[in-house]
Amino acid sequence: MSKTSDHPAPVRRLDYRPPAYLVESVDLTFELDPARTRVTARTVLLPQRTDGEAEPLRLDGRDLALESVRLNGRELGPGDYTLGADALVLPPQAGRTVLDVVTVVEPKANTALTGLYASGGTLLTQCEPEGFRRITYYPDRPDVLAVYTCRLVADEEEFPVLLSNGDRRDSGRLPDGRHWVTWADPHPKPSYLFALVAGRLGHIEDSYRTRSGRDVQVRVYAREGALPRCAHALGAAKRAMAWDEERFGLEYDLDTYTLVGVDDFNMGAMENKGLNIFNSLYLEADPETATDDDFAAVDTVVAHEYFHNWTGNRVTCRDMFQLSLKEGLAVYRDERFSGDLRGPGVQRVRDVRALRERQFAEDAGPQAHPVRPDEYQEISNFYTWTVYKKGSEVIRMLHTLFGEEGFRRGLRLYVSRHDGQAATCDQFVAAMAEANGADLTQFMRWYGQAGTPVLDVEPVYDAAARTYTLVVRQSCPPTPKQPAKEPLHVPLAVALLDPDGRRVPLRLTHEDAPSGTERVLELRQPVTTFTFADVPARPVPSLLRGFSAPVRMRMPLTSEERILLAAHDDDPFVRWESLHGYLTELLLGRYRAGDAEPAPLPPALTDALARLLRPEEPEPALAALMLELPGFDTLFGALDEVDPVRLAEVLRATREELARTLYEPLLECHRRLDDGRPYVFDAERSGRRALKNGCLSYLAELDTPEVAALLHRQYERADNMTDRLAALTALADRGDGDGVLEEFGRRWREHPLVLDKWFTVHARSRRPDALARVRRLMDHPVFSETNPNRVGALIIAFCFENPLRFHAADGSGYAFAAEQILRLDAVNPAVAARLAGCFNSWPSLDPSRRETVLRTLQVIEGSEGLSPETSEIVGNASV
Ligand code: PHE
Ligand code: ZN
Repeated sequence: MSKTSDHPAPVRRLDYRPPAYLVESVDLTFELDPARTRVTARTVLLPQRTDGEAEPLRLDGRDLALESVRLNGRELGPGDYTLGADALVLPPQAGRTVLDVVTVVEPKANTALTGLYASGGTLLTQCEPEGFRRITYYPDRPDVLAVYTCRLVADEEEFPVLLSNGDRRDSGRLPDGRHWVTWADPHPKPSYLFALVAGRLGHIEDSYRTRSGRDVQVRVYAREGALPRCAHALGAAKRAMAWDEERFGLEYDLDTYTLVGVDDFNMGAMENKGLNIFNSLYLEADPETATDDDFAAVDTVVAHEYFHNWTGNRVTCRDMFQLSLKEGLAVYRDERFSGDLRGPGVQRVRDVRALRERQFAEDAGPQAHPVRPDEYQEISNFYTWTVYKKGSEVIRMLHTLFGEEGFRRGLRLYVSRHDGQAATCDQFVAAMAEANGADLTQFMRWYGQAGTPVLDVEPVYDAAARTYTLVVRQSCPPTPKQPAKEPLHVPLAVALLDPDGRRVPLRLTHEDAPSGTERVLELRQPVTTFTFADVPARPVPSLLRGFSAPVRMRMPLTSEERILLAAHDDDPFVRWESLHGYLTELLLGRYRAGDAEPAPLPPALTDALARLLRPEEPEPALAALMLELPGFDTLFGALDEVDPVRLAEVLRATREELARTLYEPLLECHRRLDDGRPYVFDAERSGRRALKNGCLSYLAELDTPEVAALLHRQYERADNMTDRLAALTALADRGDGDGVLEEFGRRWREHPLVLDKWFTVHARSRRPDALARVRRLMDHPVFSETNPNRVGALIIAFCFENPLRFHAADGSGYAFAAEQILRLDAVNPAVAARLAGCFNSWPSLDPSRRETVLRTLQVIEGSEGLSPETSEIVGNASV
C-alpha cells in the first residue's frame, strides 16, 4: 500500500473514539546493534467492545521490517494479516490476546531522531509523539496505558550502560561478549513515555529523601568528558523534587530518577517515565562554557521534565489534542519554580516578553491555532508557542482567579481524581471549578479560540463625583478557520496610583466599604464598565498587573503617566511594560516617519533610562530588562507592509542615539558593576551581570577608543562565559571584532555547545557579509546538518534572528532558507518544518517581498517527496 501524497486527511479532535483494545502488559527485548536492532515485543491485549462485533486489531507501525508475528502462540503467515505503510491489521479478537511481534530497525540510518536512533556512540529512543510505532507494531496512542518490562541486550564493551524506565531488576552476561539488563516500570504508561538509552556513559549521583522518608537515587548520565559540567543539573533535579513537595505535596514515586544528556535531540528534553532525556544544551553548565541564561535554562528544563512526572505521566493525555493539558501545565509549573529561584517579577517579565514576541506572532499568522487544536496533519508540528506558552497563561489565569490556596486545591483534586488515567483539558478545568465552587464554562473558550484578544480601555475621571470609571471592550481578530469570536472570561488585575505613585484603596460604587488596593476584575461581556468611588484626584491606572491575561491591551496613557508607572509601580510587569510601551511607540513613530529626521529623544525618557543605571535602583535584573529596546518581532507585529531592513535600521540608529545620550551613565554603571568578584551563578549576581552587559551592548554602538578598550578588556579578562560572550557579541558587529571572533573559534573548537554560540554570533551579525559567512561556516568541521543544535545555531538563527540580512532586498536570504529547508527535509523533517516557519510573517511584509516569499513557498510546496511535516507548515503559510 503506498502512502497517498499531497495533503492526507487531517486528524480531527471530534473524531475521537476510545481504543478498541487495551493493553495489559508489554514485554520488550532489544538486541541492540547500531546497524540492525531486533525488537521482540510481547503485547497482551484485551478487546473493549463487548457489544456487537469485535473490531479488527489495528497496530500502528512505520518503516519497520517485520520478521514474525505470533498470535496466542501460533505463527502467522502473510495471509493472516494485512500489512500497510502505517499499520499491521489482524482479524477481530474476542478475548485476551497474546501477540509476539519481531521487528528490525536501523538506528544508525535514522537521522529523523524519532524512534530508535544513534547519537554519537549512544543508542536511544524518542517516542513522543509517535516514535514508538517506529520501534514495533503497537496501538501507539496515549489513552492505551500498560505496564512495561524491558530487556536490553548489547555488546558490553560498546554499551556498558543499559537504561530504561522504572527500576532496574536484573542483569547478566552472555558468552558472546554481550550483557543484558532488565528494567521494570510498575506504573502503567502510554507508549510515548517509553525510553531506552545504551552507551558508554559516565554518571554522577546524589540521593534525595522524600517528605515521607523514602530515599531516591538521582543520577545524571553523560559522556565522560561532560560529567564535570553536570553538577548544576543534578542540583536542579533535587531542587525541583523539593519544590513540588512544598508547593503541591507531590512526591517522586520510583526508587531511581535518571537524567541523561545526549548531543543529538530534536527538542529541549523528554519526560520519559523515570528516565528523562535531555538535549545536552539543557543539562550541561559550568561557568567557563555556559552563560547565566544557560544556567537558568538548565534549572527550568530539568524542573519542567521532573514536573511532568505528575502532570503528564501519572496523569497523561487522552489524545494528542489535549497536549496543553500536560505542556501548558508543566510550563506554568516551571515558570513558577524559576520565579522562586530568580525572583518572581524578573521571571515574569522574561516569560511575558517571550510570549509576546513569539506566541503573539504565531497567533497573528498563518499557523494560528487554539491552545487545544481542532485538527492537525502532523502532530509533531503542534509543539508550539501556543500550546506551551499560551497554555501556561491559561493555567496562570486560573491561579489569578482562585489564588494560591484555591489553585492548589484544584490541582490536588485533578491529580488525585485522574491518577493513572488519560485525561482531557475539560477534566482539568472541571476539577479547578469544582474545588473552587466556580463556573468555568465560559473560561473553556480559552482552549478553543485562537488569536490574541484585545482589550480597549477607556478611563473617565469625574472630579465632581470623585469617581473613576474604566470602560473595557474586548475583541479578538479572526484567525484561519475562525472568522468570528465569542467574548472570553478575562481576569484583569488592577490598582490605581495617586500622583505620588501610592496605591489608592479600592471601592466599586456598589460596595459599602473599600477593600484592598489591588483587585482582580472579571470580564465576561464584550463591554464591561467598572466605577470606583472616593477617588480624590485623577489616578494613574496600573492595569493588567502581573500580565494577568494573555491579551493586547490598548489604553491612552500620557508619557508622564508611563514614566510614573515605570519609576514607582510596585508591579514589575507594569514597570517594565510602561517603559516598553513608551519605547515601542517612539520606535514605531520613527519608522512611520520614513526618511524624515527623527525628533530628538524626549529628556523625560532618557532620564527614566538613566535612573535605571543608578546604584539606588533596587533590582538590577529588572533594570536590565527595562533598558532593552523592544525586539524587532514586537515592532514588526504592530505594523503592516513592513520594510524589515528599514525597521532594523531604525532600531540600530535609536540604540546608537541612546548610547550617545547616556554615554557617561552607561560607562559609569558598567564600571561599578564590573567588580572583579569571581563568578557565582545566583539571582543577585546574574542580575548585576545582565545590567552590566546591557550597558556594554549599548556602548558598543559607539566608536570611541574608550569603548574599544572596554570591549577588548572584558573579552580578555572574563573568568566566565557570560561576560566573554557579551563582549564577543558586542564586538561582532564592529570593524575591530575579527581578531576576537577568530580567537574564540580557535579556543572552543573542541566544544560544540560553545561553538554554537559562536555560530549564532555570526548568524545574527549585522555585517553585510553575514550570509556569506554563514554559508562558509556550514563547511566548518564542527558543523553538522544532522545535529539540530548546530542547524539551530547557524541556519535557523540566521533566518529568524537576523532580520536585516534575512530580508535582504535581493532575495538572497529567502533563497537560502528555501534551499536549506529542502536539503534538511530529507535529513530531519522536524528540523526542516521548524525552519520553514521563517516565512510565517510574510503577510505583514511589503508587496515586493511578499511576492518573493509566496513564489519561494510555491517552489518548496511543489518539490518532489516533501515530508508531511514541512508540507503542512508550507501549505498553511501559502494559502
Ligand atoms: N514533551 C517534551 C517536553 O517536555 C517535548 C518533546 C516533544 C520532546 C516531542 C521530544 C519530542 O516538553
Ligand atoms: Zn513538556
